[in-house]
Amino acid sequence: MSQTHADIGRKRQREIYLAGAGGRRPEVPVAWTELEKAAQSTMSREAWAYIAGGAGRESTMDANRAAFERWRIVPRVLCDVEKRDLSIELFGQRLPTPLLLCPIGVLEMAHREADLAVARAAAALRVPYIFSNQASVPMETCAAAMGDAPRWFQLYWSKSNALVASFVRRAEACGCSAIVLTLDTTMLGWRPRDLDLGSLPFLRGQGIAQYTSDPVFRAQLKEGWNAASGRVEESASGTQPSHEATAGRRPRSTSLSSLNLEIIATALEQKANFPGGLLKNLTSGDPRAAVQRFMATYSRPSLQWDDLKYLRQQTKLPVLLKGVLHPDDARKAVELGIDGLVVSNHGGRQIDGEIASLDALPAVAEAVNGKIPVLVDSGVRGGADVFKALALGATAVCLGRPYVYGLAVAGQQGVEEVIGNVLAEFDLTLGLAGCANGREVPRAALQQQSIVRSG
Ligand SMILES: Cc1cc2nc3c(=O)[nH]c(=O)nc-3n(C[C@H](O)[C@H](O)[C@H](O)COP(=O)(O)O)c2cc1C
Repeated sequence: MSQTHADIGRKRQREIYLAGAGGRRPEVPVAWTELEKAAQSTMSREAWAYIAGGAGRESTMDANRAAFERWRIVPRVLCDVEKRDLSIELFGQRLPTPLLLCPIGVLEMAHREADLAVARAAAALRVPYIFSNQASVPMETCAAAMGDAPRWFQLYWSKSNALVASFVRRAEACGCSAIVLTLDTTMLGWRPRDLDLGSLPFLRGQGIAQYTSDPVFRAQLKEGWNAASGRVEESASGTQPSHEATAGRRPRSTSLSSLNLEIIATALEQKANFPGGLLKNLTSGDPRAAVQRFMATYSRPSLQWDDLKYLRQQTKLPVLLKGVLHPDDARKAVELGIDGLVVSNHGGRQIDGEIASLDALPAVAEAVNGKIPVLVDSGVRGGADVFKALALGATAVCLGRPYVYGLAVAGQQGVEEVIGNVLAEFDLTLGLAGCANGREVPRAALQQQSIVRSG
């Protein structure tokens, strides 16, 4: 998989068909809708709502797919595509393919091995894994399982600059080769599926492993650091969520006793999810305090362009901005010396009615004019989508929900299979479209659907 002329498409087909001839079907469905179904059947209602859901009426999720569907591939023939080169160079690193894995938080909802399984799968295929700031497993643990395989770190800018600096230091120390600052989640989007279940995983202590493993965060926990004032105080109760909120109370919940049970269950989950595990934490107030501290500090809606200087001072690693959709923001990022962009609408999880990432891509790529790499995510479901994104100006493409569904179905193996299938389809699409080089997919390889129809 890591070689350039690896013929990965045909190899994967052969593998699957030969296994089929021996009576074995893929455990992880290849077809997208089947993969979705299989993943959903393994997950709790809360997990499915969190992972599959989006903002509002989920029209942005639909738009992401519609944007890919609108573009049709127009192949060229007789181009000698026997040997195909899928490799790219990104920030001085040679990568076997233009695919990376999106940062995705709270993966413990999909599978108990969570980020660790994804890290192992990504390393096996040498697909860079962008560790989420909301991971279920500390970045050091994932990095240790990856050898020298490429990984990046995704950062959410919390209210504490000291914590931001600490995350960046840790990312550097564990071999991450870029920092991706996500800008579209300064507040959590309005997500009806989660709201209707009254379910937010962080309140159960899920998805906060980067924080509870962080020395600065742990010290702040002891000191009573007040997020609102930025000062150390005896009590920060004014910034803490209510007891009910912490318990994850559901709308229209019925009896008082079931409510009490849920409060207890939530408290136990917080303790189980805190480093050391349930038994060690039974009598400790730290797990609850960590959740409260996290809720009070995790985002900073006041963030501005000027703040980026601080991040730049903390690291020599390339810094990418994720969530850029407007060409003017792209231009500004280039002016300020930002090293790369991820055109993303967070998989339609933040603003209902937002522009599709793929629709935003051409203008952003044009504004950047090749000065820095432009990555894209949101709605990528297969290898043909990767091809389309490259044709529209992307340097590389990030895969999101599909690998999480693979994880849910079959852990590490599931992630490997999903990535393998996407790459195989990309390799075949590239060749069948008449391109031998993934870095040179021409814009003319695509036409808008309406033009194809009328022609
Ligand atoms: C369950 C879930 C959790 C996510 N967590 C994060 C995160 O922690 N940080 C981040 O930058 N983006 C996060 N994202 C957004 C992804 O990085 C990516 O932008 C999105 O999944 C792309 O859309 P797609 O999966 O529909 O292709 C998350 C997405 C999902 C579905």
